Amino acid sequence: MSKQLFSVSFQFLYALLLASLAIQSLAFPSYESLGGLSERQLKEIIPTLDARVPPSPPGPLRFNGTKLVDDSDHPFRAPGPGDVRGPCPGLNTLANHGYLPRNGVATPAQMIQAAQDGFNMDNQPAHIAAYAAHLMNGNLVTDLLSIGGKTRNTGSDPRGQPAPIAGISEHGTFEGDASLTRGDDFFGDNHSFNQTLFDQFVEYSNRFGGGFYNYSVAAELRFQRIQQSIATNPEFDLRGFRHFTAFGETVFAVNMFTDGRKTGAEAGQLDLKSARSFFRDGRYPRGFHRANKPTAGEGVEIVLAAHPVAPGHNVGVNNYVEDRSRGSMTDFCTFYKFFINTQMKEMYPNPTGVLRRNLNLNLDFFYQSIPFLYDSFSPPDCPQIFPYGRN
Ligand code: HEM
Repeated sequence: MSKQLFSVSFQFLYALLLASLAIQSLAFPSYESLGGLSERQLKEIIPTLDARVPPSPPGPLRFNGTKLVDDSDHPFRAPGPGDVRGPCPGLNTLANHGYLPRNGVATPAQMIQAAQDGFNMDNQPAHIAAYAAHLMNGNLVTDLLSIGGKTRNTGSDPRGQPAPIAGISEHGTFEGDASLTRGDDFFGDNHSFNQTLFDQFVEYSNRFGGGFYNYSVAAELRFQRIQQSIATNPEFDLRGFRHFTAFGETVFAVNMFTDGRKTGAEAGQLDLKSARSFFRDGRYPRGFHRANKPTAGEGVEIVLAAHPVAPGHNVGVNNYVEDRSRGSMTDFCTFYKFFINTQMKEMYPNPTGVLRRNLNLNLDFFYQSIPFLYDSFSPPDCPQIFPYGRN
């Protein structure tokens, strides 16, 4: 080969390599939400994704008692450089112990199974959480969802640029304000463990729970975190789904982080060393046994009754305005209508093909998973809405 020809073919190969690297770095992440993309973007991106029909959600556990879950098949391993963790200490723990894929990217069905296996989370609430998160934050074509990472606010633009992983950390969807151990998004980091907030968790557990975190502490700390956000965060938001989750999550820690072998007066009393292990490290305390029956939101009525804050949001600091238009802890049907008719329609105004098919399947799974909220949310009181027709 002549020297000139060699140099031309080398340049050609080099250009090809650069082009393939550029394509790779622009590839749309398989776990990133497609919500809000233009029709042109969807047309370009969807054919590059590995489309999957979402499987039916897993049913309840066969054996639903307590058992050792910090076992030799599920050793703790701290997340590696490419692994994603986020605002949920439960999911972080499940990923760090291999109940979920250790990279932090999973299907909703895997999340339900893992939450049941690793914490004895009740089947129905696990469905609601997993499908709500997936519809708001997951990739409906690939059926994958990230359990956290950076938010859109702290990274570069995920649309078209190499994307930061938003996943369930995306503020204003599932993730919200006044978390117990994570800061409000307004202050810059809504997903990492916050030591100052955990110090307050400890202080409240000492003051109201005799050194343990329980329903009484949950009630006082819930109220305190809301008051703090009202007083400091001009964008504080406790409307709709956040009203529901903000109260629910406070008792998750009592019901699912307490060792399932505790009975009698010890039941429902989370010791602070275990609390730190879950919230900070995403790690089971040594020899941890999961809850001794399927559980999730038990006791939330105690927390709500102690300080029944209505749903609402701040219009400037210290100016909390009630707003029931997006539903609440006690009015899930209004949330459902808002979720479908406004939130979903804004994210996906006109889906077609595989996206429309998978959206409809996930909307079905979500709707069918909530009969346990019968009081406020059940047919015929709250009939299913089909915003995209039926498959
Ligand atoms: C089944 C799927 C689940 C999903 C999709 C999910 C999602 C989330 C999300 C998005 C948050 C952040 C909300 C916020 O801004 O505070 C959160 C918080 C939380 N989750 Fe989960 N979660 C799941 C299961 C679990 C399980 C099994 C547990 C306990 C064993 C758990 C315990 C908690 C707690 C205690 C918080 C509050 C953290 C805080 O306030 O600092 N979650 N979860």
